[in-house]
Amino acid sequence: MNFNVLKEIIKSEVRFNEQMKKYTTFQIGGIADAFVFPEDLIELKKIILFSKKESISYFVIGNGSNILVKDEGIRGIVISLKKVCNKLELNNNELIVGSGLKLNDVLTFTYKNNFSGLEFLIGIPGTIGGAIKMNAGIREKSISEIIKEIYLMDENGNIISLPKDKVCFGYRQTFLPYNSIILETKLELQPSNKKEIKKKMEFFLNKKKETQPLNKKSAGCVFKNPIEESAGYLIDKAGLKGTKIGDAMVSLQHANFIVNENQAKAKDVLELIEFIKTKVKKQFNINLELEIKIIG
Ligand code: EPU
Repeated sequence: MNFNVLKEIIKSEVRFNEQMKKYTTFQIGGIADAFVFPEDLIELKKIILFSKKESISYFVIGNGSNILVKDEGIRGIVISLKKVCNKLELNNNELIVGSGLKLNDVLTFTYKNNFSGLEFLIGIPGTIGGAIKMNAGIREKSISEIIKEIYLMDENGNIISLPKDKVCFGYRQTFLPYNSIILETKLELQPSNKKEIKKKMEFFLNKKKETQPLNKKSAGCVFKNPIEESAGYLIDKAGLKGTKIGDAMVSLQHANFIVNENQAKAKDVLELIEFIKTKVKKQFNINLELEIKIIG
């Protein structure tokens, strides 16, 4: 496929053969054929229709904080929504928020405007779109609890809105129409005050700082927590902290994190994942399931 055609179809920025390691918090990943930054919804629709017509796949990337891109890279188009989906509109206690915005920037906005509800998401280096798609959260709470409505572009480029009761949410996943793209989400917040909001943010952030390797290259928790026990606990009890394959290592701080110690390859991480799964299965007879998405 000649991706140069894209330049003739859209005015927005297109980058070819883009190194995905620049766009993931793991700082791992091969080359994507094309990487686009649509500037409006008409451009986004053109990209989607082009992909459909040419049978090319597309992948929407947020902040790349919950994915592992393979060393072979991504065949097709990677779409960033940061130039197109950045609405931030507060109407009473409802916030309409664009998918391309970073969670922490949205938190700063709600703090400044004295609204509470998002504090538990502090420290997650993702975008709103990624957080909605993955139903991000902590042990006790997920973002789905405060969602009122999701606005999508479907695979034909039509804009549709789905009220909460039309969406099925799972543990770290949100079920949406095939190939649809989350544009904006309406969230329900509560009026509060800066002192209270700050207290909550500090509580959640301090907990994460104590237990998670936030300043290392990683993709957050690698595995979902099985019903029986926390994945981090199981991997730790299997004695796997510090286990290394290439430059990929089971974090010494939190066993459900794999950290890129230097120049890790996706292959190293994938081998380490298999190693962990085998050990945990053998010791506890529990099958660990991936939380992070493998792309490519
Ligand atoms: N534990 C260990 N060793 C470890 C890690 C944890 O023994 O290396 C034990 C802890 O002592 C604790 C239990 O396991 O008793 C649970 O640990 P923690 O409180 O750290 O919670 P978690 O279940 O490991 C979940 C989410 C995190 C989220 C935290 C915040 C999942 C898979 N993980 O972690 O989410 O930040 O709660 O409370 O749901 C993510 O989704 O990427 C993520 C990091």
